[in-house]
Amino acid sequence: MTKTILILNGPNLNMLGARQPEIYGSETLDDVASLCAEAAAPFGRKIELRQSNHEGELVDWIHEARDSCDAIVINPGAYSHTSIAILDALNMFEGPVAEVHLSNIHAREEFRHSSYVSGRADAVIVGCGTAGYRFAVQRICACLSDAVP
Ligand code: DQA
Repeated sequence: MTKTILILNGPNLNMLGARQPEIYGSETLDDVASLCAEAAAPFGRKIELRQSNHEGELVDWIHEARDSCDAIVINPGAYSHTSIAILDALNMFEGPVAEVHLSNIHAREEFRHSSYVSGRADAVIVGCGTAGYRFAVQRICACLSDAVP
């Protein structure tokens, strides 16, 4: 047991805070890292936050997580709607997976309404802004049967 939760972020999420703040808010990915660490700490868990604009790099990190992490929280960004490769990688990961979208993808353009990753995710949180990452970490800790703080 590694006690580490991987928080994985896909393309354009490095621009959080500057990117369409009317949709994605003004908080940055560093803010997301802080709130995830705060949410995980009472459960005795650490987080590792990573972001990539490259599909293959995300796939490689999911493979690595098989040995180094107990669970994954993932916002695959636009790859949610296109990437069978990310779904396949997640299907090889044994721990719980939570999918997060800052915006409510179901209230946006039709091409955002479906996510390949949702077919694998144990929890899906949409439309809660950065708080969605907090909820995801808390839910993951519950899935891992950590004591409630
Ligand atoms: C997103 C929604 C996706 O449709 C979009 O491509 C993103 C961000 C979200 O967090 O709301 O990059 O995953």
